[in-house]
Amino acid sequence: MSSKTVTVTDPASGNTAELPVVEGTVGNNAIDVRTLAKQSGYFTYDPGFAATASCSSAITYIDGEQGILLHRGYPIEQLASKSSYLEVCYLLLNGELPNSTESDDFENIIKNHTMVHENIGRFMQGFRYDAHPMAMLSATVAALASFYHDSIDINDPEHRQITAHRLIAKMPTLASYCYKHYRGQPFVYPRNNLSYTENFLHLMFAVPAEEYSPSPAAIRAMETLLILHADHEQNASTSTVRLAGSSGANPFASIAAGIACLWGPAHGGANEAVMNMLDDIMETGETIESTIARAKDKNDPFRLMGFGHRVYKNYDPRATCIQGVCHDLLDELGGDQPLFQLARELEEAVLADDYFKERKLFPNVDFYSGIILRALNIPMNMFTAMFAMARTVGWIAHWQEMHTDPHFRIGRPQQIYTGPTRRDYPGA
Ligand code: CMC
Repeated sequence: MSSKTVTVTDPASGNTAELPVVEGTVGNNAIDVRTLAKQSGYFTYDPGFAATASCSSAITYIDGEQGILLHRGYPIEQLASKSSYLEVCYLLLNGELPNSTESDDFENIIKNHTMVHENIGRFMQGFRYDAHPMAMLSATVAALASFYHDSIDINDPEHRQITAHRLIAKMPTLASYCYKHYRGQPFVYPRNNLSYTENFLHLMFAVPAEEYSPSPAAIRAMETLLILHADHEQNASTSTVRLAGSSGANPFASIAAGIACLWGPAHGGANEAVMNMLDDIMETGETIESTIARAKDKNDPFRLMGFGHRVYKNYDPRATCIQGVCHDLLDELGGDQPLFQLARELEEAVLADDYFKERKLFPNVDFYSGIILRALNIPMNMFTAMFAMARTVGWIAHWQEMHTDPHFRIGRPQQIYTGPTRRDYPGA
């Protein structure tokens, strides 16, 4: 907390409130409004929380104007090109990059937790054959609390840590079970001699009758996607995890809430929506021009999927990283080149259009992630599950940070009431 204060005056009454300023290491400072209501009788009104810091956090920093994303200080571009997903997980959870012993130990711990109880598989087999993977994933992650009640004491740091490791380790297994259930194929057991990412591709695409060995480009593309989606500070799903966890809810329930939030098309569901939009342009009478015109039409609820971001108002650095990976993968696998070409033409047309320029709407990470996932043969209804798997570490890092924050309280926003004033029930 700095010694600076901001004074707010109500011109009607002349009352003033003196509010402390909270300073971060970099980026905007904030006015601490916790005593505002007491001092002035006013709350603050901020639907969508665009101007409100809900917590302080040392995990991830974003400068939306300049397109900067740092995890524990390290730029996402450097992590995406030099690091591994598990190293980024360690960094997010512990604050520092691991040395080689810490890295090996962490990898071994995660590998020790990749299997799930057989009854979890049976539980998942109970879903309808065409259940959406996100419905299965959120329900199954919530159900994990019933399998691991030996370690859900949120006040015990060891319990919090083992739960973090379990979730990171088991998400690829659970995500692959969603896919296998939908394909009608048997669940595949994890292979601990493979890397985290290779194991995930094995879980997805190996069958008892045949081994699966992914190409280096496929492993790199998947690994990059995981790194780029690992955390993104107080986005909707992370804030949901914090809010759910703030009541003391167990970590599995809190992460399940985050998965449910991520499912929405304005958040993690966007990459699926991007592919639907591109397919529509390829397969129906829609053109790039008509699609852009619809997105600009205020009478049409349609939005150009994969464009715009609540915080990035210049460019999304994750989109820049992913574009190169997307190129390499399609060059090697010869994936859906016409679709990729269409995506590039759409991006070019949007970037040249005044409507999008004026509103600072640029392609976001999801614009390209769907094309990569399709090239990897991952079906569209699994796209958001991939995002959930990658983001699990971010959710847990924030959940853990919240539980060690001295200012931590249950989350409980205020409201401006606009309903009827007090009135009597007929005859009362
Ligand atoms: N297409 C057309 N117009 C748009 C779009 C879009 N994709 N995004 C924003 N706008 C317009 C919006 O209509 C508004 O115009 P006006 O000022 O004339 O009313 C202006 O731009 C500001 O929009 P907003 O709704 O105030 O912006 P927001 O910060 O509330 O919304 C967003 C951010 C990501 C929800 C939104 O841009 C959107 O719906 N994009 C498409 C969905 C998408 O790609 N989501 C993935 C986000 S990245 C993954 C992640 O980090 O979760």
